[in-house]
Amino acid sequence: MKRKKVIDILESSKVGDNIIVKGWVRAFRSNRFIQINDGSTIKNIQAVIDFEHFDDSLLKRISIASSVSVSGEIVDSQGAGQSIEIKVNSIEIIGDANPEEVQKTVMQPKKHSLEFLREQSHLRFRTNTFGAVFRIRHALAFAIHKFFNDRGFYYIHTPIITGSDAEGAGEMFKVTNLDLLNLPITDDGVIDYKKDFFGKPVNLTVSGQLEAELGAMGLGQVYTFGPTFRAENSNTSRHLSEFWMIEPEVAFSDLIDNMDLTEEFLKYLIKYILENHSDDLNFLNDRELNEQKLKPKNERSDLGLKERLEFVVNNKFKRLTYTDAIDILLKSKPFKKKKFKYDIKWGVDLQSEHERYLVEKEFKCPVILTDYPSEIKAFYMRQNDDGKTVAAMDVLFPGIGEIVGGSQREERIDILKSKIIEFNLSEKELHWYLDIRKFGTAPHAGFGLGFERIVMFVTGMTNIRDVIPFPRTPQNADF
Ligand code: 4AD
Ligand code: MG
Repeated sequence: MKRKKVIDILESSKVGDNIIVKGWVRAFRSNRFIQINDGSTIKNIQAVIDFEHFDDSLLKRISIASSVSVSGEIVDSQGAGQSIEIKVNSIEIIGDANPEEVQKTVMQPKKHSLEFLREQSHLRFRTNTFGAVFRIRHALAFAIHKFFNDRGFYYIHTPIITGSDAEGAGEMFKVTNLDLLNLPITDDGVIDYKKDFFGKPVNLTVSGQLEAELGAMGLGQVYTFGPTFRAENSNTSRHLSEFWMIEPEVAFSDLIDNMDLTEEFLKYLIKYILENHSDDLNFLNDRELNEQKLKPKNERSDLGLKERLEFVVNNKFKRLTYTDAIDILLKSKPFKKKKFKYDIKWGVDLQSEHERYLVEKEFKCPVILTDYPSEIKAFYMRQNDDGKTVAAMDVLFPGIGEIVGGSQREERIDILKSKIIEFNLSEKELHWYLDIRKFGTAPHAGFGLGFERIVMFVTGMTNIRDVIPFPRTPQNADF
């Protein structure tokens, strides 16, 4: 007989069916009731044994975290909490788990801090919380591909090793196979990269955008979905050194089209999870409710997790310019009462406290800020007619801050060339990027969604390290 997954048993097995299930023991009580989970769903199946018919030595080995194979018959459940259960005919211990060892891990049946769980990456997958988070992470990735595929976008793979610094922020990890203790030096006293593997300095990509633009200028609509790397030393709950980014790029598209696409996309993803993953979402919703109860009243959020998701799906995002946002902030209470830590001035980038004020206090909905000063944005963004701002957009979400950054791209070669000079970049290095402006240039636009940030929003997790299986942050690259 083939094994049946727990999700399939709960969905389609009938009383009287004989089945085999394999999984890990989540609980074992009264020498009789085993809760088995195999990761296919947040739900367990209860297997009931008649201990008089089983060896004591076998019963002793059924402990939390051990893996078992159980065969038996589906029967109506006597107890509350489940409608069916398995009447066990035979049980085999596939892998033992030493109860004393288990006591020291996350598998002991009590609530654990998320920090403690992070130290045991292999066992995180076995907990209800992380099972739910990682099933939803998977579902979001699937929904992303479905969204773009249904709309005729092509998935392209942009390089992970690259010579360019798309964002120009200089936060790149170098890639080299030179002997660091014996670097080749040129006559001018600098590192001789000609002797390096690629014959020039290269780094891990911070974004696939520049290459995606080349794809869009031939395939029309493309997107990338891959890992990106940033060596910024920001140890915050919203930054990773290795994160995943989704970057669509569309030819014959302007900033308005870009905003429309972003809003449709984000709503689609959230709706997809609401409609297809209620078991995991309900669990995370209740989990958050319980956490909220431990907090002082003034720190609790107004809406529960599912209410927040519904709210985003059902309301239009507020769109306004950076300049209007600065005006609002300058008139705001926290500004007048000097409650903001950072200064607010036209031409200076907004800090996350300002973004959160706009989203959480002023508009109480997602906000798309547009038309930022050119100096604080990347070189590739399209210059507006005022000569001061660019056709940029940032999408700000409640509790998260910036979730998407994007823009219409500069398609006019002369302006792009002068921006390259202004930003101290090398025209020679970027020849391939300039070329698409020489051969049938066209307005085009795109954006980048930080994958972990949308997973945070949908799961309600408040630390980005808890939505990626193996987080990489400054001073931390375990597992
Ligand atoms: O705003 P960013 O830097 O934009 C770009 O990289 C553009 N090339 C995108 C484009 O237009 N194709 O990054 C995009 C998004 C941010 O809005 C944020 O959600 C996420 O990527 N992000 C990070 N997520 C986790 N950890 C970090 N260190 C992140 N840096 C950016
Ligand atoms: Mg950004």
